[in-house]
Amino acid sequence: MHRGRSIFGVEDIGVAVKESDLDLPDGTSLLRDVAFASARGEAVLIEGPTGAGKSTLLRAIAGIWPFGRGEIRLGNGRMLFVPQRPYLPLGTLASALLYPRGDKCGVSMARLAAVLEEVGLGTLAGELDMIENWSQRLSLGEQQRFAFARILLVEPALLFLDEATSALDEPSEAKLYGLLRAASWRPTVVSVGHRSTLRNFHDHVLDVATFSPRREQLPAMSNSDLDLVLLGCHTSEMAPSATHSYCPLQYPIASS
Ligand SMILES: Nc1ncnc2c1ncn2[C@@H]1O[C@H](COP(=O)(O)OP(=O)(O)OP(=O)(O)O)[C@@H](O)[C@H]1O
Ligand SMILES: [Mg+2]
Repeated sequence: MHRGRSIFGVEDIGVAVKESDLDLPDGTSLLRDVAFASARGEAVLIEGPTGAGKSTLLRAIAGIWPFGRGEIRLGNGRMLFVPQRPYLPLGTLASALLYPRGDKCGVSMARLAAVLEEVGLGTLAGELDMIENWSQRLSLGEQQRFAFARILLVEPALLFLDEATSALDEPSEAKLYGLLRAASWRPTVVSVGHRSTLRNFHDHVLDVATFSPRREQLPAMSNSDLDLVLLGCHTSEMAPSATHSYCPLQYPIASS
């Protein structure tokens, strides 16, 4: 990503994690000195072995992992987290698409049909007002397409995808990421995934194993093609201005 040079002003930050340590609930160290950053509109792929702490890092960025210390800054705007298996409530397909906002949020059926078409679920457009147990009817791959339709409706500024295309074939994955990277609202994307083809759709790759306190026990890693950000020398650049409304998350989260 950006090493040893001034990369972006305060206005341009997508996500920045600075010198953060993440622990397990029992205090065991999970990740040490995590540091990376991306500019607004860039895409970062987080890789690493199973159990290395990828999902936990996403939870920490979301502010829902209280075990650790450090500083995380997020750019302005709506934030959306997409898990591997999206939640589809019982009800109409339209209400599932608009969840959690509900049917009454003013989005037209034509718009819903259009986003379904964009993500390759156009055949479902005629069933928008049908009540079904959609999580049982749709395959996991279809549910993952469905989650991308939600993304197109929400237009988040910050988008976190945790193995959100794991059940899709590679051409479908490429099409969906292509929609994100071409989106007019320029989302900052942070993805977690195992498949090497995902690298094609990201500007930067981060291997969390690099931050493991047990990294000497892990299989030898080649970071030659990885692109890690070190923020240690950017402290002053990261300080938000008085007028700026970044959301710094401090660990441990203070209880008030
Ligand atoms: N609430 C918890 N309590 C105790 N241990 C936890 C908790 N949540 C996660 N862990 C442990 O933290 C480690 C990292 O988990 P995490 O889910 O972040 O891994 P991951 O890199 O996303 O793995 P995968 O590729 O399998 O999804 C694992 O060893 C997991 O068992
Ligand atoms: Mg995970």
